[in-house]
Amino acid sequence: MKPEFDSIVASARAAFGQAGTPAELENAKAQFIGKSGRITELMKGLAALSVEEKKSRGAAINQAKQAIEAALTERRQALADAELEAQLKAEALDVSLPGRIREPGGLHPVSLTLERIEQIFASMGFDVADGPEIESDWHSFTSLNNPPNHPARSMQDTFYVDIDGDDGIPYNLRPHTSPMQVRYAHAHIKRYAQAVKRGEPMPEIRVIAPGRTYRVDSDATHSPMFHQCEGLWLGENVSFKDLKVVFTDFCRTFFESDDLALRFRPSFFPFTEPSAEIDIQFQSGPLAGRWLEVAGSGQVHPQVVRNMGLDPEKHIGFAFGMGPDRLTMLRYGVNDLRLFFDGDIRFLKQFR
Ligand code: PHE
Repeated sequence: MKPEFDSIVASARAAFGQAGTPAELENAKAQFIGKSGRITELMKGLAALSVEEKKSRGAAINQAKQAIEAALTERRQALADAELEAQLKAEALDVSLPGRIREPGGLHPVSLTLERIEQIFASMGFDVADGPEIESDWHSFTSLNNPPNHPARSMQDTFYVDIDGDDGIPYNLRPHTSPMQVRYAHAHIKRYAQAVKRGEPMPEIRVIAPGRTYRVDSDATHSPMFHQCEGLWLGENVSFKDLKVVFTDFCRTFFESDDLALRFRPSFFPFTEPSAEIDIQFQSGPLAGRWLEVAGSGQVHPQVVRNMGLDPEKHIGFAFGMGPDRLTMLRYGVNDLRLFFDGDIRFLKQFR
């Protein structure tokens, strides 16, 4: 090949080598074998030559052109390879990495208990009510026949909030769900009055009120935050016998066992008279033979009925307050209440 062509081929190779992308390479190509590229121009120049010269020079130009095309193909391939390489690197997929397992969630064991309590009482015709955890002194204590300075208040020493109520006494974190007895009656008092006006029999109050409660207490069986479920049934003549029937039925359904004894142990609450603690005893299983306290209860005190805005001669019945945390411990055999509130996934996942 003539040195003239050698140098064209060499500069084509150099230009191709410098092209970093397919677009740059196509531009470089145009300078040599494009419509007005250097090789194309040389071809056009052949026209003026003699047949002999055309032959030899034409062959040499063709050779140069082929060399350039070969260099072009080679560079195209190299760029395509590099691009593929970069893409593979960017989309790297490490198949040896363990997958991210999403474990199924589940309800907290105490939530499961609350749901169960609601279902059982709903099946007995009880309404389910919800109320505030920050409560006025009147609702938590006074309305429940437990006036300021009464010694029975110390049974439920609680947390106070830095806000005074209308009576100048600070709000508290409710120490029990019993304020819901009065709240529920007040919320429905218009409906009761209307029924009486229409000459209908006075509607019964039959409600449970589950929720969080608070006391200054903390050990393996007491937590400063815990749960209670209030129950209230007022009618024309709802008696202690009805309390026994309802609560016994509830316990047997809740624990899925007829092999269960109940004991109503005399006690004191300012808002019930007479009052009783309710103990249960399993006849078989790991807890067999022990009496376990699960609720406080009693016939609603006439003063509380008056505070509801109702007539204690016409609204007679019982109330109870039970501990869903304790029921959960008994049902699942959990021996430390704190496990419920630690949030340890190893404990919680056993209930899902
Ligand atoms: N409120 C009582 C307590 O927390 C329980 C109770 C409720 C007792 C209703 C009698 C009637 O201990």
